[in-house]
Amino acid sequence: MKIRIAVTAMVLLTGAPFWGQTSKSVWDGVFTEEQAKRGETISKEECVRCHGQVLSGGEEAPPLAGAGFVANWNGSTMGDLFERIRVSMPTDAPGRLTRQENADILAYILSLNKFPAGKMELDRQSEVLKQIKFVASKPQ
Ligand code: HEC
Repeated sequence: MKIRIAVTAMVLLTGAPFWGQTSKSVWDGVFTEEQAKRGETISKEECVRCHGQVLSGGEEAPPLAGAGFVANWNGSTMGDLFERIRVSMPTDAPGRLTRQENADILAYILSLNKFPAGKMELDRQSEVLKQIKFVASKPQ
């Protein structure tokens, strides 16, 4: 619970002032198919046992795919979601995965949520990820 509050505060404090500057969103093809496939493999080893097959939700862990998840993170950035996973997941061994592994899993989560793949891989640096907005509906 504490983590969730901290993350929300972080989104509010650091996210908002950046909005004017963020140029990209998850609708711009910010990961590749191949990266999402790598992420799927890692996710099977590290995430599904709690978050369920295809990350649709487990007994205690929330879904990482579907309208609820997307609504939950709407208005945040890839940086926020990346940090959330990097710092707190898997809950029984937080911080165990490398930045690259976390970026790959994030690519897989984006593909599960039907965001389009593109030609460039999702970066593993927070500064770059912060520039990519997570928006639920496709901008006009
Ligand atoms: C041992 C069980 C466990 C494992 C393994 C695990 N999680 Fe979680 N995860 C949870 C629980 C429980 C929550 C909700 C409570 C919390 O936030 O700590 C959660 C919450 C989350 C959230 C926040 C969801 C939201 O919308 O608020 C994300 C994102 C997430 N997990 C990603 C991952 C990823 C990616 C992996 C694999 C690297 C992973 N988790 C592995 C148990 C787990």
